[in-house]
Amino acid sequence: MKNYFYLPAWYLKNVAGKQHKPLQTVLFLTDYCNLKCRHCTQDGHAGTTMKPWRQIEEELRFSYAQGSRFLDLEGGEPTLWRDGSLGINDVIRLAKEIGFFSVTVTTNGQKPFGYLKADSIWVSVDGYKKVHDLIRGEGAFAKLDKNISESGHPAVSINMAVNNLNWKSVRDVVRYAKQHPGIRSVSVNFHTPYPGTENLMPDKETKNRVIDLLITMKRAGYPIMNSVSGLNQMRGKGSSEYCWITNFILTDGSRLSSCPGKLMGVCENCGFSMSGEMRSVVHFKPDTLLAGLKLRM
Ligand SMILES: C[S@@+](CC[C@H](N)C(=O)[O-])C[C@H]1O[C@@H](n2cnc3c(N)ncnc32)[C@H](O)[C@@H]1O
Repeated sequence: MKNYFYLPAWYLKNVAGKQHKPLQTVLFLTDYCNLKCRHCTQDGHAGTTMKPWRQIEEELRFSYAQGSRFLDLEGGEPTLWRDGSLGINDVIRLAKEIGFFSVTVTTNGQKPFGYLKADSIWVSVDGYKKVHDLIRGEGAFAKLDKNISESGHPAVSINMAVNNLNWKSVRDVVRYAKQHPGIRSVSVNFHTPYPGTENLMPDKETKNRVIDLLITMKRAGYPIMNSVSGLNQMRGKGSSEYCWITNFILTDGSRLSSCPGKLMGVCENCGFSMSGEMRSVVHFKPDTLLAGLKLRM
C-alpha cells in the first residue's frame, strides 16, 4: 500500500516541484556477456569487470537514499554476475531488504532463468527465429524460447530493439509474445545509435511504419506494453527532458543522474521507449499511467 502513496508524493516533489530525484535505477552488474550482439556497444561485452558485492551494496543504498524505488539489473549479461558464492539473487534479496518496491532483470535468456527471484524478467528478443539469430548468433532464439517455456516465472516479458536488420520481423515477434504461454507482454524500443552502431538506426519513415503497426496491433488486443501515447511520442525527435527520472550506475562505478546516452550525444535519436513513456507519464496520459502501474505493481 505504501507504494501507492509514495508515487503521488514523489510526483508532487519532483515533477510538480523542482527536486528532480530519481524514481528508478538501472544498475549494471558486469560487462561479461555470453553473446556479442550486432547492435550492442563494444563496452557492453568487454568482459573486464564483475562489480564487487560491497560496491553494489553501496550503490543500492545510494540510489535508495536518492529516492529511487524501482530497480533494473543490467549488463553485460546480469545473470552471469558472481562475487565468490554470491549471485544475482543475493543482489535482488538485498535490494528488497533495503526497500526497493520491485526488481527487474534484463537477460538474453541463453541460460535457464526460472530461479531468478526478480519481480519481473525481460528477455531480449530481437526478431523471430532466424532474424534474432542474425543479430545475436546462431541458435540464440531456440535457447531463449526453451528457457522461457521452462522458466515457470510468472512475470516474463520480452523486449525488442528495432533496427534496420529486424524491423520487418516486428509483427512476428508481437504474435510470438501473444501465442507463447510463458510471455506476458512485449515492449518495443528503437535502435539508439551508440558510436559504431549508427548504420543500424531505422529512418523516420520506417520508424513511423513500425509505430503504426504497433498501435494497430495493440488496439487489436496484442499484449504490447508500450502505451499508445508513449508510441506517438517516439515519432518525433528524442528528448532527455525527463530522463532524470532514472539514474544509471555503470559497470565502472560511474553514477549518472540520467541516461549514458546523454554523454554520447545521442538523445535526439534516442529509441528507448522509456523516454517517450516518461514524457507521457509526467503529462498524465491515462493510458501510459495504466501501463506503468501494470508494469511496476
Ligand atoms: C545491453 S542488453 C544487456 C542485457 C542482456 N545481456 C540482454 O541481452 O538483454 C539490454 C538491452 O538493451 C538493448 N540494446 C542494446 N543496444 C541497444 C541499442 N543500441 N539501442 C536500443 N537497444 C539496445 C538490448 O537489445 C537489450 O534488450
